[in-house]
Amino acid sequence: MSNPLKIAVLVSGSGSNLQVMIDGMQAGRLPIQIVGVISNNADAYANTRTMQAGIELALLSHTQSGKRMSIATFEKHALAQIQDWSPDLVVLAGFMRVLSADFIASVPCPIINLHPSLLPHYKGLNTHARVLASGERYHGCSVHLVTAQLDAGKVLTQANLATHAGETADRLAKRVQRLEHQLVPLTLTMMASGLIDAANTSNSQIDLPLRLWFD
Ligand code: GRF
Repeated sequence: MSNPLKIAVLVSGSGSNLQVMIDGMQAGRLPIQIVGVISNNADAYANTRTMQAGIELALLSHTQSGKRMSIATFEKHALAQIQDWSPDLVVLAGFMRVLSADFIASVPCPIINLHPSLLPHYKGLNTHARVLASGERYHGCSVHLVTAQLDAGKVLTQANLATHAGETADRLAKRVQRLEHQLVPLTLTMMASGLIDAANTSNSQIDLPLRLWFD
């Protein structure tokens, strides 16, 4: 197996994609080492998943005075934590705050994000409902580099599916999430093996973006 990719994961919610990474790492299927998880939400189930796996959790949700942490304070602590862990890659997996250009430039490794649409289409929130409202025949998810422009960095990989007539946004979200659970480990494996070079995408050994059909 290729050298494990040291990754730090940022989360805000359920953490099902984090769980896929944890399971793959623990089973020896995925060439990654999760060096730590940063959460900005004290109630996130992702926190429980992290602790159950025995992975270091940095919970940055409130200040000492009990107030919700500002994004500037979050970024200050998150940057120090990332520098301490010294990962090869930062993965945003359901991280729901917009990061500043300064923070992105200061992080000493590439940052990737998982987004529930076929970028560059449907940036932002509520992608599944918007896709259905527009009558799109296809939808999916993307892994892309994080830049100062929201959801606009280079797309590395995408997984596609066909929408179904009469489908609800919830049902479509569940189908897209199942795609994410395949796309994330595949993308990390390709990064660990050097097929995708996130630090300099022109060095990648495959044409980007890699587009996949899973169903
Ligand atoms: C995913 O659908 C991802 O596309 C979006 O946030 C969701 C995170 O889900 N950015 P989970 O926390 O991994 O379950």
